[in-house]
Amino acid sequence: MGRKAKARSLEVHFEVIELKVRLHQFLSKTGHFSSKREAKDAVWRGEITVNGSIVKDIAYQFNPRTRPVEYNGRRLFLPDSDITFVMNKPSGYLCARINDNERAIGKRSVFDLFEEHVDATVHARLLTVGRLDEATTGLLIVTTSGDLVHRITAPEHHVLKRYWVSAKRPLTEEAEQQLIEGVSIELESEGVISYYLTQPARLERVHERDFILEVSEGKKRQVRRMVAAVGNAVEHLHRLSIANATLDQFDLDEGALVEVKPSEIESWFEQT
Ligand code: URA
Repeated sequence: MGRKAKARSLEVHFEVIELKVRLHQFLSKTGHFSSKREAKDAVWRGEITVNGSIVKDIAYQFNPRTRPVEYNGRRLFLPDSDITFVMNKPSGYLCARINDNERAIGKRSVFDLFEEHVDATVHARLLTVGRLDEATTGLLIVTTSGDLVHRITAPEHHVLKRYWVSAKRPLTEEAEQQLIEGVSIELESEGVISYYLTQPARLERVHERDFILEVSEGKKRQVRRMVAAVGNAVEHLHRLSIANATLDQFDLDEGALVEVKPSEIESWFEQT
């Protein structure tokens, strides 16, 4: 093997080793155990599974990115590692943390749907990547990574989002053209109203009242406001995709969610 090839092979070898940790070290770092001894005892008692199998060897080496660890059936995470989920958002859930008063009047948060999937420390760090209205359904990305939120929502990144719009009335050809070219929508910030001309969008008709609208911006209630601006109204709104991530590829029932790996997230941004 030549010198360069040997060096490369060593690099790869080190990367692989670095990704692996010993089970007792991983458990101590999760913050779930008050001492190293308590973490080890949990392993010896058979309360820890790695990738679904009980592991009683405290020195067991594994890659926590690819092999989930559970303690008495609850998933454990390293406090500083990021985790990302894709969910099929159901109607009737807010993309926000809600307080007791809001709960008392029947409001629900998308974060409620994560309670059985992540522990409290991860739950507290979850962010939605942009917001869908309470009534909107479809693709929602939820993550602990502020960088991922920025990568998708920063206006200068122009990430494309596709929505299935069911309108109350048939879409006229004139309205279709206006939506494609850009319409003036009202925006409100701290009580001040301003007007914003939307960027050119793509539109694909499906039926008389149904069409797919692709936009590269994410102003508050943008699609509903655009449809209102052309004299129509949204009956139902469903997000189909964000960049290359399509809801179809995940095959999720409403309210269901799935964790996505970093490599999969990268593929969302690849040029196709
Ligand atoms: N545009 C809207 O009007 N509402 C959403 O939920 C998403 C985009």
